[in-house]
Amino acid sequence: MPDLSVTLGRLTLRNPVLVASGTFGYAREMAPFVDFARLGGVIPKTVTAAPRAGNPPPRTVETASGMLNAIGLDNDGLEHFLAHHLPYLRTLPTAVVGNVAGKSEDEFVAMAGRVREAGAGLAALELNLSCPNVSGGLDFATDPDVTRRIVRRCRDACPDLPLVAKLTPNVTDITAIARAAADGGADAVSAVNTFVGMAVDWRRRRPILGNVTGGLSGPAVKPLALRAVWRIAKLGAVPVVAVGGIATLDDVMEFLVAGASAVQIGTANFYDPTASVRVVDGLPGALAALGADRVADVVGTLRT
Ligand SMILES: Cc1cc2nc3c(=O)[nH]c(=O)nc-3n(C[C@H](O)[C@H](O)[C@H](O)COP(=O)(O)O)c2cc1C
Repeated sequence: MPDLSVTLGRLTLRNPVLVASGTFGYAREMAPFVDFARLGGVIPKTVTAAPRAGNPPPRTVETASGMLNAIGLDNDGLEHFLAHHLPYLRTLPTAVVGNVAGKSEDEFVAMAGRVREAGAGLAALELNLSCPNVSGGLDFATDPDVTRRIVRRCRDACPDLPLVAKLTPNVTDITAIARAAADGGADAVSAVNTFVGMAVDWRRRRPILGNVTGGLSGPAVKPLALRAVWRIAKLGAVPVVAVGGIATLDDVMEFLVAGASAVQIGTANFYDPTASVRVVDGLPGALAALGADRVADVVGTLRT
């Protein structure tokens, strides 16, 4: 039986398959469908410092091989998360990676500090530097200097918790941002968040989403995410957690070979909540097919 465990900076996971933020609720919702003990980890929905109502409806629309969403970080705020969701998440037999978004650099740092105060229970903290659906701009990861500063300051505010910087693909050169996150001390980067797009109802001459634009996800974005992950991994600066259109065992193996150290399954959870555990079940066989004893033996082995 191959060793499925993976190590990303200071974070070690039982296997490389996590479920992505915003596609798995706060895990409670998925308990009837998923044996959490079989997952590498769970990333609950982004929390912000204050509660947010999110964007006007419609918030999602199906597109060819994917979906657009403009949820707008609807959530009950950090204190509610700490009081109501974290006690449950702490009991899960898998790694829980918290996910936070600040409205400003200072707010990111304050949230990281508050998470630290709240004590144990999280395996790592993912910094959502990249939500495309929030007016006023939460797209911090379009600027390398801002990315580096936020990661560094969060690391200082919360030194014991591994940090994962979640990057946006809506930039000219994602490798510059990944390098900045690495310089700031990120244990890993997750790539990518959604691609900004839109959908139109031509008969009504109206945008379909209440927010006009939204983030594209699902199988449609997989080739784009693969390229982003491959380019970041080639830097050799920071481990990459791949996210974008991953739904099957083949998808996971493609991303691992292209350089991802772990993966997140996102949109697929909506139409197949068991996709993640099925992928984990298939991993030993896929590794064996490549003559590998460990996940690390296949990571970044793409021949170009
Ligand atoms: C409905 C929806 C809500 C999302 N909410 C969040 C969120 O709160 N925080 C976050 O970091 N990413 C969020 N994402 C982005 C996903 O975590 C993931 O990065 C993206 O969808 C690409 O992966 P996928 O193609 O497998 O879905 C959301 C995606 C969807 C589809």
